[in-house]
Amino acid sequence: MPSISCIVARSYPGNVIGAENKLPWHLRTDLRKFRETTLDHVVIMGRRTFESIGRPLPGRTNIILSREPGNDGPDLYWVKDRENALFIADVMTIMRGKTHFFVIGGSAIYNTFDELINRVHLTEVYAQNLKGDAHFHKEFDLRKWKTISENPFPRSDIDDYPFMITILEKRNKTVRQFPPSYFLTGGGGQIANSIRERVVENAVILQPAIQLEFGMSHAD
Ligand SMILES: NC(=O)c1ccc[n+]([C@@H]2O[C@H](COP(=O)([O-])OP(=O)(O)OC[C@H]3O[C@@H](n4cnc5c(N)ncnc54)[C@H](OP(=O)(O)O)[C@@H]3O)[C@@H](O)[C@H]2O)c1
Repeated sequence: MPSISCIVARSYPGNVIGAENKLPWHLRTDLRKFRETTLDHVVIMGRRTFESIGRPLPGRTNIILSREPGNDGPDLYWVKDRENALFIADVMTIMRGKTHFFVIGGSAIYNTFDELINRVHLTEVYAQNLKGDAHFHKEFDLRKWKTISENPFPRSDIDDYPFMITILEKRNKTVRQFPPSYFLTGGGGQIANSIRERVVENAVILQPAIQLEFGMSHAD
């Protein structure tokens, strides 16, 4: 199954990621890196983060978690729980030919997926005394996580603060394994029929090869 990554920018010190449902800084370079990293992948976010962004992220499959009903759209799936989000993310990631997908926040959603995350793209923003109401407090024990890369960026005309982008990877990865029947039965019956039908339909239209995975043909 695809591996799960998360991407997050937090203040150092303080671990602030948001204030009044907005990012508490302007870092154009970091936003560009965010786009480059997540483009063509599946992204999962919370309803508040989706409202903060204001639209589905283009060039990505957007999955929005909310306990309230919402509207699907092109490249936009509105889901009620983690299992439905994972089902769509797995299928659409395979369909896109990718090996992983991204959890992109906010605070509640990072917590929801925490133990499943194998790779973290962590931006630490060197902003003193920054106030906020959303945080990412995860700590990285280097006996369990290894640093893959570290890239510092200075403050500049387009970036309010200096920051560092670190990529961390879990040493013992969390591996999720399902038999092919997982897809055919809609995640063992946990997945809403409407979601299963739409995901399978899109998969069959866009990627005929995946029919094999689903055991379907155009005649189905
Ligand atoms: N710096 C960064 O990297 C970064 C990244 C992303 C976001 N942010 C910031 O983070 C803040 C938003 O974070 P947040 O924690 O307040 O909100 P959030 O995680 O974006 O969204 C929370 C909402 O998601 C839904 N939800 C959460 N867990 C769920 C679950 N297990 N099942 C179903 N639905 C679930 C609920 O929606 P309903 O209320 O509709 O049921 C909940 O109110 C904003 O300030 C944003 O700018 C920062």
